[in-house]
Amino acid sequence: MRKVTLSILVEHPIVQKYVGRSGLEHAISVAEKAVEISGDYGVSPDLAAKAGLLHDIGHYEWYQNGEWDFETYKENDIHAIKGAARAHKLLVRLEESLPNAKEIALAILLHTDSYLPAGNLELHPLQKLVAVADTFDEEPNGGHHYRKIDFELAKQRIRKLDQKIDQMIRSDQSIEQLG
Ligand SMILES: [Fe+2]
Repeated sequence: MRKVTLSILVEHPIVQKYVGRSGLEHAISVAEKAVEISGDYGVSPDLAAKAGLLHDIGHYEWYQNGEWDFETYKENDIHAIKGAARAHKLLVRLEESLPNAKEIALAILLHTDSYLPAGNLELHPLQKLVAVADTFDEEPNGGHHYRKIDFELAKQRIRKLDQKIDQMIRSDQSIEQLG
């Protein structure tokens, strides 16, 4: 059994405040995509979903006077750093295991290169996966951050995703037992 589920996360005031700010619909879509491709990357669907759901939890309000100023935003952006720290604190507080909290935080830290010096990093599969799932859901001019979703519908999608993850974990365990 997973101690921290997506349903617990999505109801949490910290998630509602910060993930709500960067777009709950986008976060759920990235979590769904992350689970869908987790097998291709050989990573746990549970970690993929949590990193996907929380990947933008570090965003701040980026528009001034109702205008999106992408250049200024990109120059000053540290949302991945803030997000990694914020997600880690939240997960540890909810009693996620420390290794899981660290893996998720690192995947959030490295899901974008907007603050990194130029050069190639060798990313781990979970870190790559979150970046891929995020890019898959991106719209021009940051449109993905502004999509709205009714909270009841959001909770339904999250519950469905929790069930899917539980199923995937159960079938992995039974394959291991057979082996
Ligand atoms: Fe994102």
